[in-house]
Amino acid sequence: MSEPLLAAAEQAVPIWFATKETAGAVLERLPQAQRDWIAANGFEASAGRHLVLPGPDGSLAGVIFGLEGESARHRDGFLPGKLATLLPVGTYRFANASHDDRLAALGWVLSLYRFGRYKRNDIKAVQLVAPDGIDRDEILSIADAVALGRDLVNTPANDLGPAELAEAARALAERHGAAFRVVVGEELLAENFPMIHAVGRASSRAPRLVDLTWGDPSHPKVTLVGKGVIFDTGGLDIKPSASMLLMKKDMGGAASVLACASMIMAAGLKLRLRVLIPAVENAISGDAFRPSDILASRKGLSVEIGNTDAEGRLVLADALALADEEAPELIVDMATLTGAARVALGPDLPPLFCRDEKVATDLLAHAARENDPLWRLPLWPPYDAMLDSKVADLNNAPGGGFAGSITAALFLNRFVEKAGAYVHLDIFAWTPSAKPGRPEGAEVMGARALYAYLKARFG
Ligand code: BES
Ligand code: MN
Ligand code: ZN
Repeated sequence: MSEPLLAAAEQAVPIWFATKETAGAVLERLPQAQRDWIAANGFEASAGRHLVLPGPDGSLAGVIFGLEGESARHRDGFLPGKLATLLPVGTYRFANASHDDRLAALGWVLSLYRFGRYKRNDIKAVQLVAPDGIDRDEILSIADAVALGRDLVNTPANDLGPAELAEAARALAERHGAAFRVVVGEELLAENFPMIHAVGRASSRAPRLVDLTWGDPSHPKVTLVGKGVIFDTGGLDIKPSASMLLMKKDMGGAASVLACASMIMAAGLKLRLRVLIPAVENAISGDAFRPSDILASRKGLSVEIGNTDAEGRLVLADALALADEEAPELIVDMATLTGAARVALGPDLPPLFCRDEKVATDLLAHAARENDPLWRLPLWPPYDAMLDSKVADLNNAPGGGFAGSITAALFLNRFVEKAGAYVHLDIFAWTPSAKPGRPEGAEVMGARALYAYLKARFG
């Protein structure tokens, strides 16, 4: 792919942004011939519509693009990114301000992502001159991190097993001089990660726990935990085919925390970062864990298996228990944890769970500002009782089917005690149909929001 975001260019086609309210003033700045052309085409500056403007010689001399007006209830900061996939090959610049030039440029670059591992996927060479006053390096670093995460999620499980996911983390660690360790297979038992082992042991590809650390040990500790289920069959409680079809994306939490880690390390934030990824396949074999099994956990709580398809919370619980042992300032986990989160909020709006008011409020504000939206749901204490088991400390799959995303979050919450604050994001990690800046398929969710929050706090 050609460089999507140029530092400068000799000549670039101007893109004029207009809303219904500003269209008149914008048109006044254009030559009469282009105004006539706009009128002849009946172009109105409604959100997402564009018209290319001819020069005197018939060449492409400009573009006008409609943005959401004042009355819009929601603005998609990536909307101008749509142009990257619509315009002919060429070099463009923003001629006037969009609602947010930084998000517009980021949306442009993120729109140009394609997953080309198995099929040639030529993307047009549409280049944007970085708008004045934005940090081009940071935009490229964020886009790079998002592409890494998307590639991991898009890669099917036959080519991305626990080992390959761990190797991707190792490559990232090496790029930034981070310390790296993996606990593999039977070592998980010796080092007391019984639930990661139990969930992953049915697969011919050994389960493992990735442990990356980076940064000055004297800085505040922030630990990211990502669900790395490289494929979720459901286990013995097997999923029906329609539900299983997308389950290569069940390591989307791991991909999103790796993307976030990449942004953090590239920016050199003043924090001691740790990334923990339980990487397993929830497979079916004679050795599979079973409904009604009672597992020991790292924390010492016993867990009755109500459903082998509630595997994410099991592997995360052991990783969270490890994270909690050094009492970091902040633990954040990201996980494609429940179908219930999708029922509640749909694919694009991941629930955020956090008991700390300030952390939750600040993170939500950054999420909105970064166009990486999150929505708070409660860790509702009265529902804790739904996790009760008659024979163990906890059940992994409460009966009744109520508040599934909340009870999953409450389950995880039992394994975190010492951290300064704990945040859980229940992400979908997938865009069902393309939107500006968000091509169809794999998506990194929560990573840009969290990076912006951490940058403000530890930058
Ligand atoms: N990976 C799934 C959750 C999921 C499903 C995320 C679809 C995104 C889309 C998770 O492991 C799972 O199967 N959860 C179960 C839990 C239930 C058995 C308590 C679910 O949500 O149905
Ligand atoms: Mn599952
Ligand atoms: Zn799962």
